[in-house]
Amino acid sequence: MPRSIERALPGVFISLEGCDGSGKSTQLSRLSRKLGTAGLNPLVTREPGGTPFGERIRQLLLDPDSPDRSILSETLLYAAARCEFVSKIVRPALVQGRVVITERYADSTWVYQGYAGGVPLSTIETLNAIATGGLEPDLTLVLDIGRQEVVDERLASKRKDKIESRSDEYHQKVREGYRELAKRFPHRVVCIDGGLDVCVVEAMIWKEVVNILSKKGYDFTDEKRGRESL
Ligand SMILES: Nc1ncnc2c1ncn2[C@@H]1O[C@H](COP(=O)(O)OP(=O)(O)O)[C@@H](O)[C@H]1O
Ligand SMILES: [Mg+2]
Repeated sequence: MPRSIERALPGVFISLEGCDGSGKSTQLSRLSRKLGTAGLNPLVTREPGGTPFGERIRQLLLDPDSPDRSILSETLLYAAARCEFVSKIVRPALVQGRVVITERYADSTWVYQGYAGGVPLSTIETLNAIATGGLEPDLTLVLDIGRQEVVDERLASKRKDKIESRSDEYHQKVREGYRELAKRFPHRVVCIDGGLDVCVVEAMIWKEVVNILSKKGYDFTDEKRGRESL
């Protein structure tokens, strides 16, 4: 994995992860607003999707009426969408020095198709490395949810997509998988309790984001929050 090459990219890449209903979209929009106020003009995007091709694949993967497929075929489709997403959206923005925030990225496949779905994790890691060219987030925020009831309540009125419609056992494995992910990749993954109050979660996320931006050379000590070293 060419991490040292990726570290040379001037931008900052942040992913939000967690099960459906964990609060990713809610927090993405709050974080984006805060970064905007700080003058950082973030690129906000999502996976699968982010490109016209990726949005078509998203529909194929998530539409409740989409035909059944094997978990490996599903994995390969995610990889195709991701390849497009990284080369057309994420990498160019990072090269320009922008902050990129994405709702879901390669870790979702690690958890949903790998840990919970049964595709060997080594296969997933190889495919992710090919699809992304080795591009890892600088920071991955996992919104951790302890119990299915929390999300059932939050998503009660939502029509379930193809993956949300899977069994409770599958979703239990997804939640476990995110905790395992944090254990395996502690250098970039931070677990935050997604069951807490929205504003509390927002503050916890902000603390981690300020930390990574400071490490990457942004000055957060004054209101201008300009970039010092780039
Ligand atoms: N911390 C929270 N506490 C209570 N409800 C929340 C919280 N975060 C999000 N929600 C609500 O839960 C639902 C799903 O949130 P959303 O951000 O769409 O999750 P995701 O993008 O992870 O699927 C929304 O109705 C949202 O308002
Ligand atoms: Mg969402």
